[in-house]
Amino acid sequence: GKSYKIAVLAGDGIGPEVMAQALRVLAVVETKFSLKFEFFERLVGGAAIDGAGKALPEETLKTCEDCQAILFGSVGGPKWESLPPAEQPERGALLPLRKHFGLFANLRPAVCLPELTHASPLHPTIVEGGFDVLCVRELTGGLYFGEPKYIKQEGNEHFAVDTMVYWESEIRRIAKVAFEAARRRKSHVTSIDKANVLQNGVLWRRVVDEVGKDYPDVTLDHLYVDNAAMQLVRRPKFFDVVLAENLFGDILSDEMAMLTGSLGMLPSASLGETHEGSTSRFGMYEPSGGSAPDIAGKGIANPIAQILSSAMLLRFSCGEEAAAAAIEAAVKKVIADGLRTADIHTPGTTKVDTAGMGQAIADAVAVA
Ligand code: NAD
Ligand code: IPM
Ligand code: MN
Repeated sequence: GKSYKIAVLAGDGIGPEVMAQALRVLAVVETKFSLKFEFFERLVGGAAIDGAGKALPEETLKTCEDCQAILFGSVGGPKWESLPPAEQPERGALLPLRKHFGLFANLRPAVCLPELTHASPLHPTIVEGGFDVLCVRELTGGLYFGEPKYIKQEGNEHFAVDTMVYWESEIRRIAKVAFEAARRRKSHVTSIDKANVLQNGVLWRRVVDEVGKDYPDVTLDHLYVDNAAMQLVRRPKFFDVVLAENLFGDILSDEMAMLTGSLGMLPSASLGETHEGSTSRFGMYEPSGGSAPDIAGKGIANPIAQILSSAMLLRFSCGEEAAAAAIEAAVKKVIADGLRTADIHTPGTTKVDTAGMGQAIADAVAVA
């Protein structure tokens, strides 16, 4: 069978706990689909600060460069929040990894399974039958990376500056990703901006409209971000693909995750440019949520976002569609069987811990 090199960066908090479950599932996939995964486990984030003196050691970056993909857990936590901002796990490791590999396209599929509508905070009539929204978030531009960026003192007061910059080419390439994705779904793109206030919003809307002309078969509409936050709660089924710049996508995707039942359910793929004729591309795959310090170490975190992220890795970076689909089917099966971690537990279902959920999904892949 084919062989793949995968960098495994578990990170902090619940990262290692949910990563262990993804690796458990991948071990079954290996046998079942006659594949060979070479895993390279390396330090990142707070764990790397403690173990190697910095959030993104050269050794870790080098390993990532030698691999087809990165399976990432999560980084950050109270222990490292008093370090200089640039040295902290998020700005010292996670954002540099995204930038270094040019991972501008962040795909976050927020799927509310029909069996999980009770775990959603939305009224049953709104979520009945479930819903399926894909957030396409721009990941290497906007306020996260714009220069200048600083805090300074003038007189006896401090002031802070962050800069929001988007180039047409950055907007165009992420818009194309959204339209292409929509063609494989319900052919509907909702683009998010704040064009009533921000120059970035004006340019965003103009470029997305232009790109949309190449996709006459896809319905395009625009929403201001505040209205979008509201409409997601009011009628999530209206949405198919949601296209957003970096910060808006960050915020809206946490909202979407919770509407499906839990942040612990939302996986993500961060991808760079596609290369002509290639069925695989480099990518980083991680849960959309963070290191969850409030539940870390208790063995109760939901591993599904990490497990579904590994399925996205197999699909986009390995071209192993059947293996990816098998993992996704296994997740649906254990949910249909009534197994729930604490975050999605509702009356009449069976509560399991992190390892119990991981094992059940691995078993379901094995017998599929
Ligand atoms: P968080 O996403 O870690 O947690 C938010 C809430 O969701 C918490 O109540 C948490 O318990 C819950 N939650 C998240 N994942 C869960 C799971 N798998 N199962 C069950 N419940 C889950 O956000 P936060 O508390 O704002 O941030 C904590 C730390 O994580 C911060 O340092 C932040 O910067 C970092 N962070 C890292 C990443 C990443 O590495 N990709 C993403 C987001 C936040
Ligand atoms: C995410 C996280 C990161 C982001 C943080 C930890 C820098 O919230 O992946 O959604 O804002 O992109
Ligand atoms: Mn986020």
